[in-house]
Amino acid sequence: MTLFELKNVNYLYLNRIPALNDINLSIEEGEQVAILGANGSGKSTLLKLLDGLIFPSSGVVKAFGKTLTENILDGEGGDFPQFFRRKVGLIFQNSEAQLFCPTVMDEIKFGPLQLDIPEEDIHQRVNDVIEMLNIENLKDRAPYTLSGGEKKKVAIASVLSINPDVLLLDEPTNGLDPRTQRWLVELLLELRKSGKTIIIATHDLGIVEEVSERAVVFSEDHRIVANGEAQAILNDTELLMKVNLIHEHSHRHNVILHKHKHAHTLEHNHDHVL
Ligand SMILES: Nc1ncnc2c1ncn2[C@@H]1O[C@H](COP(=O)(O)OP(=O)(O)OP(=O)(O)O)[C@@H](O)[C@H]1O
Ligand SMILES: [Mg+2]
Repeated sequence: MTLFELKNVNYLYLNRIPALNDINLSIEEGEQVAILGANGSGKSTLLKLLDGLIFPSSGVVKAFGKTLTENILDGEGGDFPQFFRRKVGLIFQNSEAQLFCPTVMDEIKFGPLQLDIPEEDIHQRVNDVIEMLNIENLKDRAPYTLSGGEKKKVAIASVLSINPDVLLLDEPTNGLDPRTQRWLVELLLELRKSGKTIIIATHDLGIVEEVSERAVVFSEDHRIVANGEAQAILNDTELLMKVNLIHEHSHRHNVILHKHKHAHTLEHNHDHVL
């Protein structure tokens, strides 16, 4: 089933700042898609459109076969808003924008409380997520007093507690320590096995290699310039350099050497000799 379908989508902030330019894109149920592109290329804007937080300036965004509009996601949508909010969860790039409750516990409970879930199940889910993320010690803290990485963990927990079928993650590994990054990759692989649709906007090409099957690449003028098998795109250094995702010095480290670890020292020295 096609989950998302975008046709000729343009998005301008404040009616004048271009963020997305003529986007055509379909995402099927159960896919793992990486959204790649330089700073300002439009990745976060795309995720916000998919989450129904903003709406196209022109063109159409369909989700579950319905065109997303402000009206459909507000009072006029019948059961659709509830259905959509239960199905789709966005983890924001900036965790501070996501956290607004007095305590971490309230934050993680907030989503399930909106969704007509029996009180007992809510309790169970919240505790499961707290345990999974190992944030037991934070549960009574005020979110604004947490460190950046702790905020990110709470933001992740507050979306996982809804248990959405479609996860939109905006730079999820940013600010997480290596152990927590690893944990997140393992979690995404588990979620993938259970059939979830996972869409990740990131600059972290390592995570793309591990968890995404397809990659969509944005150019700096906010257009899609590649859309295909993730590994093939990661190997296309010319493309990645053109869209400013890697630069000449680092590309061997980030992509090619990832696959030929033993050549690392040799290649590295070789580069400098040249
Ligand atoms: N709230 C806003 N008001 C005005 N312009 C915005 C706003 N948010 C984003 N933009 C602009 O829209 C364009 C796309 O921004 P977006 O945040 O989608 O990029 P991105 O690919 O997520 O970048 P990054 O890698 O830095 O997160 C940029 O030119 C940005 O300056
Ligand atoms: Mg962004």
